[in-house]
Amino acid sequence: MNRREFARLLAIGGAAPFLAPGTAWPRPADLPPTPSSPDEKFWMSVRDQFVMPKELTMLNAANLCPSSGPVLETMYRMTKDMDQDPSFDNRAKLGDGRENTRKLLAQFLRVTPEEIVITRNTSESNNLVSNGVDLKAGDEVIITADNHPCNNTAWKQKAKRYGFTVKEIPTPNPHPGAEHYIDAFTRAITPNTKVIGFTHLTSTVGDVFPAKEICRLARERGILTLVDGAQSFGLFDVDLSDIQPDFYSGSAHKWPCGPKENGVLFINKNAQSKIWATIYSAYPGGVGISKTFEGFGQRDEPAMIAFGEALTFQTKIGRAVIEKRSRDLTTALIEGLKRVDGVKIWTSLEASRRAAVLSFQPGSLDVRKLSAALYQKEKIGCATRGGQDRAGLRFSPHFYNTMADVDRTVAAVKKYMATGV
Ligand SMILES: Cc1ncc(COP(=O)(O)O)c(C=O)c1O
Repeated sequence: MNRREFARLLAIGGAAPFLAPGTAWPRPADLPPTPSSPDEKFWMSVRDQFVMPKELTMLNAANLCPSSGPVLETMYRMTKDMDQDPSFDNRAKLGDGRENTRKLLAQFLRVTPEEIVITRNTSESNNLVSNGVDLKAGDEVIITADNHPCNNTAWKQKAKRYGFTVKEIPTPNPHPGAEHYIDAFTRAITPNTKVIGFTHLTSTVGDVFPAKEICRLARERGILTLVDGAQSFGLFDVDLSDIQPDFYSGSAHKWPCGPKENGVLFINKNAQSKIWATIYSAYPGGVGISKTFEGFGQRDEPAMIAFGEALTFQTKIGRAVIEKRSRDLTTALIEGLKRVDGVKIWTSLEASRRAAVLSFQPGSLDVRKLSAALYQKEKIGCATRGGQDRAGLRFSPHFYNTMADVDRTVAAVKKYMATGV
């Protein structure tokens, strides 16, 4: 099958029902073109592209996003095609599809396909970096306290094995501003620093880090940078040609609304000679670093192709528009929660320091009980943060949410704050 035929296979589906009775979902109306000033009506039509029941408000994008109908259909269609004829001959086109996704990822992140590795998720991407760079006793890695365990635990465990040291920069609350972090990194760097690993947008309280500036100061000193993009990939209109990290990681199933167990690792062409592959097996990627780095054995290529469809879906709507929408929804949630007595917002009240991850403490309410009440009684899904450190609830809205979701969520929190749970 040539590229054009492959593109046609991706596009078919049309009005023909292809799902077994009982497993089908209603096919949404076509997505309308994005207006120059998108209104609620437009965002409702975006919401209609998702198979979540109308009454469900999901505010948990930082953890896992739903895939849109077009993504599910692509995955189903490609899987069915493969299982109808699993011969090498029929599956050859799946390799083309995977390379197509690599190109889409490169366009999405504004880099080259030769710098893209398709992984399973951010955890794997980050660990491929901490496994792959040569570090020894005397070398130093700088991390930030709010990094995810797949970054921080990974570096600390590997430090035990290889003898390098790890220095952790604290993440005070509220967000102390970009300058604070540029200064903190500048002061923490020594002649022994080899790698800096930080998070573009934290999953804890949604702090935005000055990625471009930190990467620049590291680059000027010959230090490698790992930017964990789990919370920025698919939310921000990320431009890696501008940020210029050495490594950037992300997951398909979060903000890009792609399939599960797909992810990305960007490896800057300047850093490719400084990293070893962790896994050597068959079926590597077709171009650049993926030829040596992505030999992970048999993959779920239909899911990888659906990953590409998720990127196309967001690109069609408009990446900058999606980022703005998610930020606007968050601002509206913050404004609403600010008016609820007893709520303490952990996330920065300065718009430039936050994006679409919002954490707050609902007074003295038990957060697990509140979260259960929100889901079971109000059909609002969110995440809890337990423990002593900025405990509370986390709301992370995305472009499938509406301002009506915001209103009813604020009203529900207000109600439980008044009545208890
Ligand atoms: C900042 C950050 N990094 C990495 C991860 C891990 O992502 P995954 O489970 O997709 O590997 C998460 C998950 O929430 C995250 O928030």
